[in-house]
Amino acid sequence: MRLIDTHAHIDEESFDVDRREMLDRARDQGMVGIVTLGTTLDSSRRAVALANQSPLVYAAVGVHPNYINSSTSQDWDQIVQLANDPRVVAIGETGLDLYWKTVPLDSQREWFRKHFALSRELQKPFCVHCREAEEPVLEELRQEAERGPLLGVMHSFAGSAETARECVRLGMYISFSGIFTYKKSQSLRDLARELPRDRLLVETDSPYLSPQPVRGRRNEPAHVRMTAEILAAECGVSLEEIGEITTQNAERLFGLKQA
Ligand code: NI
Repeated sequence: MRLIDTHAHIDEESFDVDRREMLDRARDQGMVGIVTLGTTLDSSRRAVALANQSPLVYAAVGVHPNYINSSTSQDWDQIVQLANDPRVVAIGETGLDLYWKTVPLDSQREWFRKHFALSRELQKPFCVHCREAEEPVLEELRQEAERGPLLGVMHSFAGSAETARECVRLGMYISFSGIFTYKKSQSLRDLARELPRDRLLVETDSPYLSPQPVRGRRNEPAHVRMTAEILAAECGVSLEEIGEITTQNAERLFGLKQA
């Protein structure tokens, strides 16, 4: 069985005590890839270093919307340099966040567009964080889609069915995290059944968003299996089948055969 965690933050401090064992556990669960995303210049550097140390790990580089205030245009120039590393398979984490009202929407949009431009230039997909910002995110995606088909993923999707459908129409992939396993998330599970199979991905967002069976504990990539199990049940296929479907989708989106 194969599984890829398409969104994690394994550079975070909470993994300093057992990062190697955590990667072993992921391998034991049949995992063939973990995409670790930068949220600042420093964490993007750490992501690239980790991806160069382990064949299981791939990197994404970018500035998370919540960290824009502490990032400079020089930081961005460095991220552009890092993005050329062959182990960097995506641009992000980027997006819009209107939950933490710390960064003005205009500057979030401006940074979001920088990520789009870099993604298009390098032909590496962008990873979208969207929290209480579905309408402005859709506006940005529609505008970007005028330049050509989108190559990207809605990470930890928890939005409406209408938003998901429009994202898919624009070319986006939809990634489900531990949120998908929560009792309150029936609408997401209903949505998963109707989405095209070739756009589905699974992720952990480790160390956050632990799936239901391990909720409240630190999350880690091996737990992606729990989200995959629920997704398999919803789609009426086996865990092995959903693993293969989502793994092939991730390989296609991130160009993993070449990375
Ligand atoms: Ni994230």
